[in-house]
Amino acid sequence: MPTLPADLRLESEEVVLREWRDGDAAALEAVCGEWDVCAFSSVPWSYSKAEAFAWIERQRRKRAAGTVLALAIERRGDGRAVGNVNLARFGEEAREAAIGYWLAPAARGQGLATAAARLLIDWGLDALGLERVEFAILPQNLASRRVAERVGARPEGVRRESHEAEGRWWDMEIWSVGR
Ligand SMILES: CC(C)(COP(=O)(O)OP(=O)(O)OC[C@H]1O[C@@H](n2cnc3c(N)ncnc32)[C@H](O)[C@@H]1OP(=O)(O)O)[C@@H](O)C(=O)NCCC(=O)NCCS
Repeated sequence: MPTLPADLRLESEEVVLREWRDGDAAALEAVCGEWDVCAFSSVPWSYSKAEAFAWIERQRRKRAAGTVLALAIERRGDGRAVGNVNLARFGEEAREAAIGYWLAPAARGQGLATAAARLLIDWGLDALGLERVEFAILPQNLASRRVAERVGARPEGVRRESHEAEGRWWDMEIWSVGR
């Protein structure tokens, strides 16, 4: 497992990636219960403030354990969390990681997911020394596929029935980007 920094802030022209805070619960409220988010992340299916605080606290604990690095996405200059981007599944040697992301519906279609993914991937390759960052994307999720394409990832094929959600196994397209 890698040693993940306790506090991290990354900035580009478009976005700021920073720690999740208790005051960010509204960002979770916007996506709780959305199938595309909840079936592929740890976001709770139903919203309550207590669930949101617990989710944010879990991100801190996973960071400390070296298992997941989750950062809130802000549009630069805005100050509000509008989504999440994370690196996870680092493996024994921390040579690779899986990336995940979601945005509140009102923040979609403006290039924010692409900017956030690009920033975190560059940091992972440079600062953590990763060789490879992997995307696992539901084949019909065209927006997510475009994010992978736009950050320079390449398709590797379909991992059949590799993701379980709601009692069913789903095929996932695997994409990756490296140094
Ligand atoms: C996937 C997601 C993060 C993309 O966010 P976004 O802000 O729309 O992403 P961007 O604006 O950076 O880029 C999306 C690209 O996909 C395109 N796109 C958006 N919605 C689309 C759709 N329904 N069908 C096809 N293309 C779509 C956009 O036009 C853009 O492509 P372009 O640059 O060629 O114009 C967002 O839709 C989301 O949060 N979805 C729910 C959670 C999810 O699916 N997470 C990924 C799991 S693998």
